[in-house]
Amino acid sequence: MTDRTIHWADPPNGGVPIVTHLHGGQFQSNSDGHPEGWYTAAGDRGSKFTSENHTYPNTQPAALLFYHDHTVGITRLTVASGLIGLYVIVSPSEEPSGLPKDGNEILLIIQDKTFWEDGSIAFPDTGSSPDNHPNWCPGYFGDTILVNGKVWPYLEVHPEMYRFQILNGANSRFFTLTLSNETLQFIQVRTDGGFLPNPLYLSEITLAPAYRVDVLIDFANMTVGSVVYMNTSAPGPFPDNIPPLNPDTVKSVMAFKIVARNGYARSYSVPSNMTTTPNASYDLTTDGYRNFTFSQTVDDLKDLDDNRIQVLMTNATWRDPVTETPTLGTVEIWDFINPLPDAHPIHIHLINFLVVHQQSFNVTAYTASDCSFALQYPDSGSCFTEAPQEPNSTLVGWKDTAIAHPSQVTRFWTRWTNREAINTDGSFPFNAWEGPGYLWHCHILDHEDNDMMRPLILLE
Ligand code: C2O
Ligand code: CU
Repeated sequence: MTDRTIHWADPPNGGVPIVTHLHGGQFQSNSDGHPEGWYTAAGDRGSKFTSENHTYPNTQPAALLFYHDHTVGITRLTVASGLIGLYVIVSPSEEPSGLPKDGNEILLIIQDKTFWEDGSIAFPDTGSSPDNHPNWCPGYFGDTILVNGKVWPYLEVHPEMYRFQILNGANSRFFTLTLSNETLQFIQVRTDGGFLPNPLYLSEITLAPAYRVDVLIDFANMTVGSVVYMNTSAPGPFPDNIPPLNPDTVKSVMAFKIVARNGYARSYSVPSNMTTTPNASYDLTTDGYRNFTFSQTVDDLKDLDDNRIQVLMTNATWRDPVTETPTLGTVEIWDFINPLPDAHPIHIHLINFLVVHQQSFNVTAYTASDCSFALQYPDSGSCFTEAPQEPNSTLVGWKDTAIAHPSQVTRFWTRWTNREAINTDGSFPFNAWEGPGYLWHCHILDHEDNDMMRPLILLE
């Protein structure tokens, strides 16, 4: 049963529409899986449909991407139902030496779901009137954690170093991963967009929906027979916890059982510098500036008396006219002003971007219009309560999705050309301005489906 209480594809001849998006991929928008480019088995087509065939040049830097359905208004349902998978671009020349490989390199998709007793997926159908079922909910939080489709699995590992490429494939849940043995750390070597210049040593690592990280865990000193748990401490919604939707059951993610290897132990190392990915340095000369203030309203579906909270990014909805139209080859600063209590992972199609800084502001003064963003801290009258801060570990490196933290302005540096062009003057190996266009949105899928999503057109 499809939720008809928010806008959706609504194919005239019925059936479930689909359109595949390769998240993190760089290609012409004909192949991007535009949410209005859906199609059905019965032959219905969305208004931006171009072809069922997509072309991926795979010329971008090596990284872990993933693909998922992107049909307007039902992405949260189709993805929770399983239409999500990993897509790995491998490039031996970009790979630092010494990284774990073969059986010591593991791909993980972490998700949360609730099940009915017969094993089918339970999706909440909130709403006060029986006529409104099923009804959109502002965030789907499951009561079990799945890794690669299995609830609370374990993996047998040898006392050696492992490389885990991890996707947060949940609809709404953030994961703050920790390891039960404090002598172990996550050694992060890669983000959404490629290798970091230097490895990051972390005792916990926070993944918003759609985040990918590549981490090394060195089990070399673990005793055979022991068990290490990977847990999560992130509440849902993140980072606040009201209402409390974080039962104790979702604290555990998976277990690692240490088993002996027959034969020679494999030995791997942490790469010391990873120069293959263009350096995350940038020049702040820009051609354009935009800012976006998130706002929370009650959505306007008149026949519903459910007072559903809706989050918007620019006070505009998905089907309002396009306002983000960067010109090919330019650099723009995008500031995300988040006065709301929750973090929103912002995803921009087509490009990788860098986070320049994050800066806290006084939400009460801002809401009362008692301060100004035009004034810089510590000027009196400035909304800011601190100087700009270096991006924290959730925001480092090349990203296609980055968290706009609550009570902060998060500044993105966006370059509307191929990433390599930062060092050369290359451009996309395709005409990025052709086709139905791209989009940007919150990657909490429940938000994205209910208008926290905007079109984006690249001008030639
Ligand atoms: Cu992961 Cu617009 O998508
Ligand atoms: Cu959101």
